[in-house]
Order: sequence, then C-alpha cells, then structure tokens
Amino acid sequence: MTKILATADDAAEVLKNGQLVAFPTETVYGLGADACDDTAVARIFDAKGRPTFNPLIIHVFSCDIAEQYVEMTDQARILAEAFWPGPLTLVLPLKDGKISRLVTAGLVTVAIRVPNHPVARDMLKTFGGPVAAPSANLSGQISPTCASHVLQGLNGRIDAILDAGPCDVGLESTIIGFDPAPTLLRPGGLEVEKIESVLGHPLLQDMDPAAPRSPGQLLSHYAPKASVRLSATDVKPGEVLLGFGDVAADLNLSKTGDLVQAAANLFAYLHQLDARGAKTIAVSPIPEKGLGRAINDRLRRAAKPRSN
Ligand code: TXA
Ligand code: MG
Repeated sequence: MTKILATADDAAEVLKNGQLVAFPTETVYGLGADACDDTAVARIFDAKGRPTFNPLIIHVFSCDIAEQYVEMTDQARILAEAFWPGPLTLVLPLKDGKISRLVTAGLVTVAIRVPNHPVARDMLKTFGGPVAAPSANLSGQISPTCASHVLQGLNGRIDAILDAGPCDVGLESTIIGFDPAPTLLRPGGLEVEKIESVLGHPLLQDMDPAAPRSPGQLLSHYAPKASVRLSATDVKPGEVLLGFGDVAADLNLSKTGDLVQAAANLFAYLHQLDARGAKTIAVSPIPEKGLGRAINDRLRRAAKPRSN
C-alpha cells in the first residue's frame, strides 16, 4: 500500500529510509528517492517501468547546494540566478562522486534544478541532499499534476505520496544544456523567450527526435490512451474536442486563450478525456509562442504513433 503523507518532514523521513515518495513541485509531481542511494534510485526505474538509459533530474534546495554537485559555468550561473527556484533544469558537468551512476545513466553530466514549491522546498531543506525525481507516472504516460493521477499509475508500487493539491505550472521544467552554448533540450514550464531575454541571445535548439540527446525527447513519450489529432478546427464523429479559445469543446484548456492557464490544465484534461474512454482527442490549434511551444511539443509527442 502507498501511504498518504501530510507533512514535508514525513516525506524527508521516507527519503532517509531509502524509500520512494511522490511529492508535488510547481511543474508536476515527482517520484523522489535519495540520489546518492543506488538501491533507492533503482527502485524508481522499477516502479515506473522506465528504461534505464533515461537519466533522472536531481532536485536540491538551493543554488549553493547545487554547486556541491555540478560545475556551474558563467552562463549557467546567470540562468540559475535569474530563474531558480523555478521550472528550469540545467544539464551540467558532474562534480562529485556521490550521485548514483543510475541517476545519470552513465553520462558525465547531470540534470539539476531547484524547484519552487513550498512543500517541495521544505522537504528538500529537511532532507538536505539531492533528490532524484522523474515525473511520478508510469514510463510513457502523462505526467501527474495532482495526487490522484499519481495513484492511478503508481498506487502500491511506491512507498508514499505527499499530497499538497494540484501543481501550478502543470508542464515539466524547461531543460537547457551547455555544449558549450546554451541549448534548448526540452521546452517546458519556463518560456524560451524569458530565457533568451536574460541571456541576450537566442538559444540553440537540440530537439532532433531522430537523435535525442535528452532521452525524454523520444517521440511517443507523452501518451494518453486515446489517439490525438492536432490543430483541429472541426470535430469528426467519435472524437472529443480539447478546445483552446472561444470554441464549444468537451473540455477547454482556456476559453480566454491564456497559455499559462492552458498549460496548467493540459495533463489533467488529457487524463479526464482518457477516463471518459474517448478514442480520439481532437485538439484546437495552440499558438507556437510562450508556453504554447511546450504545450505543442507535448501534444505532438502524444499524437505520434506509439512505441510502447
Ligand atoms: O518538471 C520536471 O522537470 C519534473 C519534476 C518532477 O521536476 N521532472 C521531470 O523528469 O520531468 P523526467 O525524468 O520525466 O524528465 C527528465 C528529462 C528526461 O527527458 C531526461 O532524458 C532528461 O531530463 N535528462 C536527464 N539527465 C540528462 C542529461 N544528463 N543530459 C540530457 N538530458 C537529461
Ligand atoms: Mg516524465
């Protein structure tokens, strides 16, 4: 049985015991384990049914703690100072031998972020060390934005869940690598435009699905059970409509066309339409700007033929 926890201290205790706890972040719920404990990290892959080549993000309380584990380049520090705590993950050279090799899947870099959710922050502060956490869903399924989504996939497969209500952002973090120039590896909850304005130049893009450097770029990663039809301006027989803007829809991501609201609703609404047994989810066109880029990225993956 998976225990439901009420306090961040209880969650930190679960981590110290080498067990798994799902916890809220501002983006999506994460499935956490002590990043320095090989067995605990291995249990993440087992619980998610995740291919071991897919490395995990580590979560720490502060930028100072991050510097114990990674080499901060000048540009990485500029981004960390501007956006941490927040929905930004930086892929940086590993400094330290303490992080389990399972976390990095053998890479010489590690993905790291400082989340901005009061409950996650309390848990990380009490725990002290780095917490490895992918999204708390079965591999290949939609990321959870509330505790009930987590339990749908992982009840009985993980030790505990810390329930603190729905996530504000609703999309996973934006991932930036440095090779050496700042490169977008995954669009996400922090708008590319904001990152570029702090850097003063455009990001390079490295999202070629044929040769993914960030393995989460695999095409069919974000998959509801229903098939997905994009940029729908009509509804065909047997389809449900996930709307955006001023359209009559089964569920509407944002009637006013607000991309922040649409991002927060995206995964929850895909879950709800799936639960209705919809065969195909048609989705209204979403503008390719701001958080619309990350929403479209997740929807394009959901619409691809499935690999699992
Ligand atoms: O918002 C988020 O990022 C959530 C919350 C829980 O923090 N986490 C999340 O984790 O989305 P996950 O495991 O579902 O996605 C992590 C992504 C994967 O696509 C993985 O391939 C990539 O990060 N990644 C991890 N380490 C990497 C590395 N060293 N180099 C390149 N990509 C890496
Ligand atoms: Mg995930």
